[in-house]
Amino acid sequence: MSPLRCLFLYALLAAALLVSAQQNRLLTQIEQLGLVNVIEQTIRPNVPKQGANYDFIIVGAGAAGCTLAARLSENPKWRVALIEAGGVENIAHHTPVLTGQLLQTASNWGYRTVPQRLACRGMHNNECSVPRGKGLGGTSSISNMIYNRGNRRDFDGWAAAGNEGWSYADVLPLFLRTENAQLKGLEHSPYHNHSGPLSVEYVRYRSDLARAFVDASAQAGHQRTDYNGESQLGVSYVQATTRNGRRHSAFSAYIRPVRDNRSNLDIFAFSRVTRVLIDETTKAAYGIEFNYMRKSYTFKAHKEVILSAGAFNSPQLLMLSGVGPEDNLKAIGVPLIQPLPVGRRLYDHMCHFGPTFVTNTTGQTLYPSRISVADIISFYLAGNPGTWLSSIGGVEALAFLKSPRSKLPADWPDIELVMVAGSLASDEGTALKLGANIRDDIYDALYRPLQLSQQDHFTLLVMQFHPKSIGRLWLRDRNPLHWPKIDPKYFIEPEDVEFILDGIKESIRISRMPALQAIGARLLDRRVPGCDEHEFASDDYWRCSIRTLSYTLHHQVATCRMGPEGDPTAVVSPQLRVHGMRKLRVVDTSIIPLPPTAHTNAAAYMIGEKGSDLIRADWSGK
Ligand SMILES: Cc1cc2nc3c(=O)[nH]c(=O)nc-3n(C[C@H](O)[C@H](O)[C@H](O)COP(=O)(O)OP(=O)(O)OC[C@H]3O[C@@H](n4cnc5c(N)ncnc54)[C@H](O)[C@@H]3O)c2cc1C
Ligand SMILES: *[C@@H]1O[C@H](CO)[C@@H](O)[C@H](O)[C@H]1NC(C)=O
Ligand SMILES: *[C@@H]1O[C@H](CO)[C@@H](O)[C@H](O)[C@H]1NC(C)=O
Ligand SMILES: *[C@@H]1O[C@H](CO)[C@@H](O)[C@H](O)[C@H]1NC(C)=O
Repeated sequence: MSPLRCLFLYALLAAALLVSAQQNRLLTQIEQLGLVNVIEQTIRPNVPKQGANYDFIIVGAGAAGCTLAARLSENPKWRVALIEAGGVENIAHHTPVLTGQLLQTASNWGYRTVPQRLACRGMHNNECSVPRGKGLGGTSSISNMIYNRGNRRDFDGWAAAGNEGWSYADVLPLFLRTENAQLKGLEHSPYHNHSGPLSVEYVRYRSDLARAFVDASAQAGHQRTDYNGESQLGVSYVQATTRNGRRHSAFSAYIRPVRDNRSNLDIFAFSRVTRVLIDETTKAAYGIEFNYMRKSYTFKAHKEVILSAGAFNSPQLLMLSGVGPEDNLKAIGVPLIQPLPVGRRLYDHMCHFGPTFVTNTTGQTLYPSRISVADIISFYLAGNPGTWLSSIGGVEALAFLKSPRSKLPADWPDIELVMVAGSLASDEGTALKLGANIRDDIYDALYRPLQLSQQDHFTLLVMQFHPKSIGRLWLRDRNPLHWPKIDPKYFIEPEDVEFILDGIKESIRISRMPALQAIGARLLDRRVPGCDEHEFASDDYWRCSIRTLSYTLHHQVATCRMGPEGDPTAVVSPQLRVHGMRKLRVVDTSIIPLPPTAHTNAAAYMIGEKGSDLIRADWSGK
């Protein structure tokens, strides 16, 4: 970026935030920063040419798609097209504390689940929000930036299920290849690399609440650990995909540094793919159809079409193109080319938004809705990475725990506590509440008093790693612009609720440790509406709360499940080729066969790296 353009952008942001800070209308202001999109597009527009030819066409510029595009275009002989439905990032994406606000912008597809019977009772119409990133960078541009790879047993399990080449020993080098770690104290760890494209660092800002939580967890018997290292179990300050305190998205990490030097890589934003072109007799993919500025285009792929459109849109595109469950395609009138269980499985990581604890501290809870001009100047103009603007939406520490009811090996965590220096109140109802589709009566009963009193507080989100509940995704009709139907069937298996209950109990135990008692930590004593019949903080009260404040951390996987030939649940092979098809792969988080012991962004990069290795192996010398 030229210095002049930088200055212009900063001035624009500062002005917008100044207005919003006064009027508390941050969201609208950030939407208007979409202006920056338009400016960037005007400076470097990329208008598609009808009928253009490429070797590889990659659909979706998310975490996996950007990785793949960068790696494949390293070969100057290959022409690569990267097609993305959304626009470009702006300064709001780069400001980690604003991550909740981004859900209210056009950078989020804005999906909702179908009404949930046994979960999401605190949401309008029992519909949980399932956001997804839309834009160059995909979900990595709106995510919370937690960097977390998973447990070695996850990947060894994939391999044992017949997915050769995906064991921990196979994938660890790929995780390392992506990583540029700046983690103090882990400079010599064999689990971290310092020269990959993706920056990983501890969040520069730390509240007293986080310090007290980490200390209290240690006092409760959870050792300090590097959860991306030898052993996951324990507590740690969060490792984040930020660079000098700013978001480092897939686009910033993998594409921006190389795009000016890759005449063989064409990137098309605002281009929405509607179908994969498939030769019905050979079952070979030979191109795509997409819309750009209300006009339809066709591109041809000589070698392969690769879907990296994410866990909702990759299965959608397969089905629109005739690859999917026979009954669903028949019902919506798409001619069947290849019957496969696309969308038949959908796993997610569900959590409970709480418990929330109030404390006697002051000024430690983050209020992203109260950014001042001084904050902006310090963070952007003075370049100070340690201000609270570098906080990744308030997430500061993670604890990986076993549950007493676990039947899994002792080194395989069942639950995670995500420590957030705030709650739904900390943006004063302007972002997370809307982003999660939470009803006003819930917000008003639980969080508005906190917003008004500004009493310091923090929340421990409790997440279950290995849920038994399995959901499904399908198409309501054949219109490619309509949303897929998403039914995660959250908490359909009662045991999943019990694991989260175990995590809540452990959170409360940790809150009673000296480090948290020293700051007066105690449960927020407000009742969840709809759970009044139960004694406050009893097991049944929490069970009710879990089914009310159900909150996904957006780790949907398995909609294009990977598995060997003959596996009736598999959509793609261990080489990520769509079973029974030619020249067609899926390379993104939708191939993950089972929910990992992790947040899924790091895996998306790893899958992008793996995909590029598999593709290069197939086409080397061709
Ligand atoms: C709000 C939120 C917070 C999260 N926080 C974390 C976190 O802190 N840590 C973590 O590890 N994980 C987090 N995740 C999950 C993680 O970000 C995702 O699992 C991961 O980024 C998915 O990568 P992907 O490459 O599979 O897909 P995506 O990154 O979703 O990329 C898919 C891309 O394809 C594009 N696309 C879709 N359909 C079309 C089409 N028809 N035509 C053209 N383009 C299309 C999309 O616009 C998008 O850019 C979060 C997710 C969300 C939603
Ligand atoms: C670190 O990353 C670079 C760049 O991706 C890669 O070449 C190197 O092999 C990686 N180092 C290790 C130890 O994995
Ligand atoms: C750009 O590409 C050329 C040829 O592939 C290479 O020699 C050069 O080092 C690259 N420059 C940068 C800045 O990466
Ligand atoms: C915290 O404040 C509460 C309410 O004012 C008080 O009862 C409690 O003693 C305080 N605890 C500590 C550790 O200061």
